Amino acid sequence: MPAKALKVILTRRLPEPVETRMNELFDVELNATDTPMSREQLSDAMARADVLVPTLGDRVDQGLLAQAGDGLRLIANYGAGFDHIDVQTALQRGIMVSNTPGVLTDDTADMTMAMILSVPRRLREGNLQMQQDKWEGWSPTALMGHRIGGKRLGILGMGRIGQAVAHRARAFGLQVHYHNRRRLHPDTETALEATYWESFDQMLARVDILTIHVPHTPSTFHLLNARRLKLMKPSAFVINTARGEVIDENALTRMLRAGEIAGAGLDVFENGNDVNPRLRGLDNVLLLPHMSSATVEGRLDMGEKVIINIKTYADGHRPPDQVVPAML
Ligand code: DGY
Repeated sequence: MPAKALKVILTRRLPEPVETRMNELFDVELNATDTPMSREQLSDAMARADVLVPTLGDRVDQGLLAQAGDGLRLIANYGAGFDHIDVQTALQRGIMVSNTPGVLTDDTADMTMAMILSVPRRLREGNLQMQQDKWEGWSPTALMGHRIGGKRLGILGMGRIGQAVAHRARAFGLQVHYHNRRRLHPDTETALEATYWESFDQMLARVDILTIHVPHTPSTFHLLNARRLKLMKPSAFVINTARGEVIDENALTRMLRAGEIAGAGLDVFENGNDVNPRLRGLDNVLLLPHMSSATVEGRLDMGEKVIINIKTYADGHRPPDQVVPAML
């Protein structure tokens, strides 16, 4: 089908240059108000589209896929994570799914480092003191945090983002430890000066800061559960810029409040934007609204990837970023 004839429906607003380019290339339906689509609206879009461009928060499940129109052949997700899409069912129905890997790596790794620095060094509390005009001047004992250099950083998930974090962490003098499904090639391990732990549990007990970089899948759901959190030192910090579902948020909240974990930096939450209210207001917790990849450059690159995926499909080929069963 000629690209211009492809009905491409976007579920959310995308950066203006991305929408403009899509308008030039395809028959695009935009979401001018940026209001997230209801299930009914999503179902209607899937009945009419040749290509759906959803993003995080649009739950494309079995039920919706069962009602998809015959024209729908590609779900070109705007985002790297695809845990909101039932890829298996989509593939069974002959619908390809693509994502936008790679272009969020550095931005997410930068933000992870920002959290790794901010939480042990108590930036949240310092900023609050200034904002509330409560600073009474320098004091030798005020707002003492913990030195970053020399600490053990545990990285759960050593894919693109995990490795980008390791690279940055070395520059700050952190000792890099990691647990991954597969051990890295020895050359990569040497370059990152990274120590591999086959046992996640054993690594947990030894690290000072843990940072999460695995996707949300059935096997990573609550990987950091109450039992494992208890293995960590009470002086340890937890950072999560991956997916909230990987941590048992209630267990973490209880332990943060009880002083059994020293602090946390969280950019993602178990139930989307429905954040456990007991996490709010804690001095030792930095909360961010899922903004790790939010840079102008990154969002444009993501749009470029979506366009290439759709254009390649329109030209009769498989999208370069197709999600394949081996990735599930
Ligand atoms: C993604 O693309 O999956 C990211 O989580 C967005 O920040």
